[in-house]
Amino acid sequence: MKVAVGCDHGGYVLKDRVVATLTALGAEIVDMGCDSADVSVDYPEFGLKVARAVADGSCALGVVMCGTGIGISIAANKVRGIRAAVATNTFMAEFTRRHNNANVLALGGRVITPDEAEAIVKAWFCAEFEGGRHARRVAMIDSIEDEYFK
Ligand code: RB5
Repeated sequence: MKVAVGCDHGGYVLKDRVVATLTALGAEIVDMGCDSADVSVDYPEFGLKVARAVADGSCALGVVMCGTGIGISIAANKVRGIRAAVATNTFMAEFTRRHNNANVLALGGRVITPDEAEAIVKAWFCAEFEGGRHARRVAMIDSIEDEYFK
């Protein structure tokens, strides 16, 4: 399974651990940058790159990282079909896959440690969407996109 990974300078601190964790879980990583914590870059650019890869099907899932995880998740969520969710603990990570079918996980490099990121990525990646009533609710989100997205 291909997983797109992208971050800004604020999320870069987590990137190597996230890539290593996903690789150990059997994922093939598509690295969309950035490549340093030392150069200030714009998180929407990297959120969009990952979101596009997931939305067009070239990657099954994505992980995005910025300082808080929030800005880059907001950017990713502007792409139709993307359900990007910030998780700061393993419970949020597991349930955003089980209930929201989150196809992009967002992490904050200034919020969590690399050790926490590893556990969160594992919880999200290994969980499965439950479907049923949750599928109906996700379909309601799709309907909102139909109404508001071109
Ligand atoms: C960059 O300084 C910071 O604003 C960004 O990484 C992120 O936290 C935005 O949501």
